[in-house]
Amino acid sequence: MFNIFKKKLVNNEEHIELDMNNIPKHIAIIMDGNGRWAKKKNLPRTMGHKAGVEAIRSIVKECNRIGVKYLTLYAFSTENWKRPKEEIDTLMKLLIQYLKNEFNELHENGVVINHIGDIKKLPVPCQEELKSAYERTKNNQGVVMNLALNYGGRDEIMDAINKLIKDIKSNKTSTNTIDEKLFESYLYTKGMPDPDLIIRPSGEQRISNFLLWQCAYSEFWYSDIYWPDFNVYHLHKAIIDYQKRDRRFGGIK
Ligand code: IPE
Ligand code: IPE
Ligand code: MG
Repeated sequence: MFNIFKKKLVNNEEHIELDMNNIPKHIAIIMDGNGRWAKKKNLPRTMGHKAGVEAIRSIVKECNRIGVKYLTLYAFSTENWKRPKEEIDTLMKLLIQYLKNEFNELHENGVVINHIGDIKKLPVPCQEELKSAYERTKNNQGVVMNLALNYGGRDEIMDAINKLIKDIKSNKTSTNTIDEKLFESYLYTKGMPDPDLIIRPSGEQRISNFLLWQCAYSEFWYSDIYWPDFNVYHLHKAIIDYQKRDRRFGGIK
């Protein structure tokens, strides 16, 4: 039964299941569960991260195809520095490999390869690869893929406040009061809509310092599936569930 449903969603007719007039503009994903995926298979955690990177390809492609405008992928948090050095090194190497290996296909598909987070703390080759990927794709018209790296919601808010103070002190910004619009223009997500849908696989139901300001009215979708197993079928399931929700934003029907 499950397989029949699955087939129906992933074959060429899957768009029938999705309401193409109600595709979330911004989807954000907490790509979690790589380690447990590997453990389940008696593999080292690094293999889980490798499989996790593989899982990104079909999701970006599908988001682009169905007209999602922004896809934010949480790849490394400000708290992930607490992990063993070897694991961090592997993740940084995988990032460079990903950008090198996938660049052509992403570029051909019109994807903008953007990043959010304080990348100055990443190894220099990662910073260079990220900046170069962005420069070469910034004029593309497809989905904007935000790779969240050394990203923390609290850091983002503190950074915004500090930049604002600096700009006010140097008269670059003249204001007596800070409103939401001005504040948002200092966030990493400047100019982007808030995420409509935040997806977290792996069974955890927490935000883990992700998009704290921006998630004020996001719809959340959780699943027990580990990220390396997450595919287009799950993406569609999340979007279909999202489309059934009644987003009231504090108002009434
Ligand atoms: C997500 O998978 C990847 C990163 C946080 C970089 P995890 O490595 O957190 O996997 P689990 O949660 O240990 O299974
Ligand atoms: C969140 O996953 C960060 C990323 C997926 C990059 P974690 O595995 O770091 O989150 P916690 O520790 O379970 O909250
Ligand atoms: Mg985790």
